[in-house]
Amino acid sequence: MKYILLVLLLLFTESLSQVLVTPRIQCRTKKCEGDNFCFQGYCTPCDGPRSIWTKRKPQWGTKIGEALNVPAYSNYGDLDVQDKNKNEYLLDSQINFGEEIYIGQKYQCVHYARRFWVSQYNTTFGSVERAEQIFDLQEAYNFDTKQNIQLKKFKNGGIEPPQQGDLLIWQKDNGEFPYGHVAVVISIDIQSASPHVLIAEQNYDQAWDTRNFARALKLSIGENKEIIVSNNRQTFPNKDDLKCRDDEITTQGVILGWVRAVIAIQPNCDNLCDGDHYCYFSECYSCNQFRKDWEQSIPDYGVIIGYGNKIPAYSCQNDTQHIAELKHYLQPQESGLNQTVYVGMKYQCVHYARYYWILKYGSAFPDVDTADQIYDLEFAFDYQNGGKRKILQFKNGGQERPLPGDLLIWNKSQPNYPYGHVAVVLDVQLSENEPYVTIGEQNYDDIWDSQQYARKLKVAKNNLGNYYIINQREISNLHPQEKCKDYSGSAYDVIIGWVRLI
Ligand SMILES: *[C@@H]1O[C@H](CO)[C@@H](O)[C@H](O)[C@H]1NC(C)=O
Ligand SMILES: *[C@@H]1O[C@H](CO)[C@@H](O)[C@H](O)[C@H]1NC(C)=O
Ligand SMILES: *[C@@H]1O[C@H](CO)[C@@H](O)[C@H](O)[C@H]1NC(C)=O
Ligand SMILES: *[C@@H]1O[C@H](CO)[C@@H](O)[C@H](O)[C@H]1NC(C)=O
Repeated sequence: MKYILLVLLLLFTESLSQVLVTPRIQCRTKKCEGDNFCFQGYCTPCDGPRSIWTKRKPQWGTKIGEALNVPAYSNYGDLDVQDKNKNEYLLDSQINFGEEIYIGQKYQCVHYARRFWVSQYNTTFGSVERAEQIFDLQEAYNFDTKQNIQLKKFKNGGIEPPQQGDLLIWQKDNGEFPYGHVAVVISIDIQSASPHVLIAEQNYDQAWDTRNFARALKLSIGENKEIIVSNNRQTFPNKDDLKCRDDEITTQGVILGWVRAVIAIQPNCDNLCDGDHYCYFSECYSCNQFRKDWEQSIPDYGVIIGYGNKIPAYSCQNDTQHIAELKHYLQPQESGLNQTVYVGMKYQCVHYARYYWILKYGSAFPDVDTADQIYDLEFAFDYQNGGKRKILQFKNGGQERPLPGDLLIWNKSQPNYPYGHVAVVLDVQLSENEPYVTIGEQNYDDIWDSQQYARKLKVAKNNLGNYYIINQREISNLHPQEKCKDYSGSAYDVIIGWVRLI
């Protein structure tokens, strides 16, 4: 403020002669017309402040302001536009993100816009030859999540106002904007007496109007609530001189609209996306590509896919060459027991459940035809001490919580469970905000979510203190697309309950 007053004072002395010959029009109640601004209550020609301001443009590379921690620099007096040394890359991007992130050529307008998105959103947009082309891009790229991000485009004159982080795009013309132009929206005020959009930018005036934003652009609202942003400064009381920074040519610049990376807003859409879509930054995205990539990463039959409490699980991708070796017996030297023990058919779900009980407890449940029959068993053989051990059943949705070592049992159902299914409970976390049980299993996805477990299943607890385990992954803290590992409707598959060796 002091600075501006000082400038105005200087200017006033400089252009005193002009002021005196101009008819003195009061501007206490009325705006000054044309190329005049309001100074000490009188309309005063812009030439004075404009010429001072033009003379004082900072040289190339000088910091001219900073919006939301992203500094801007002057591009004035750029000596060599072709200089390759002016290409900027994100510091340590190779180390931090495994790829080189290009920011742009110092200190073009596109360079600021890209640098803003890179530093605020870990997001960059495709390369463009001129700023105007940003309005034609369809996607941006988040190099942290390695995801493409949808770009939304809003035409100037539509009803959707710009918001922080949007890129305002100017049309290419034969005047001030031979390449178009781009600026970043810092904030917007529709309600005030002087509606405006604050922007941050490079390579426009080469000097910012304040330390925290480059310009305040005029915003007007049409009859049908359409929002129009123009390349004219909005004037504020006591700062009317800023309007002199616009001239006849610049005021003809046309703003096409604004471009938004959908990453800038994050309301949850989880419940809006169906079973074949995941919610990412308020948009539903198809699971297709993720599922394809994921399925392609499934290991061959017999490859270890993880260790549940140190007990290995193997991929069951069917492969007819191994049919003869499917029956698996554990020899005493492998199990430490005094006899050969039958484990099951490699590498079915029942095989893993029995394998786990044998190696952990020296016990094995009797032969079953289908996995769901395990729920009906009353005893297991005790190979350590001889005799039998009792098996207890707990219905899903009852008062009893599952414990590590329990076997979770799925009912038979078509088409996914013609034989039912069984998994081993590895860990139970019911006190979490999002309670879950961690399981180990074979012949379900044939690929585990981590080295230590196959899946984390959601647990619902009702007011009566009953626990219901749901056949759906708990993915809080994970990327939302992890949801795609579940097929649509998996949550309706019935887990009958769990059995416990006692
Ligand atoms: C950008 O990526 C870094 C490194 O992965 C991360 O710590 C940071 O939270 C990310 N920022 C945003 C806004 O996504
Ligand atoms: C093996 O996989 C194919 C498809 O991948 C399937 O049609 C077939 O039924 C499977 N065979 C067995 C024995 O699971
Ligand atoms: C193995 O050991 C158990 C417990 O000591 C015993 O009851 C059983 O008879 C033994 N079996 C064989 C085949 O030695
Ligand atoms: C299992 O499914 C059968 C039909 O296939 C049904 O009759 C039975 O009630 C189900 N059992 C449980 C515990 O849901």
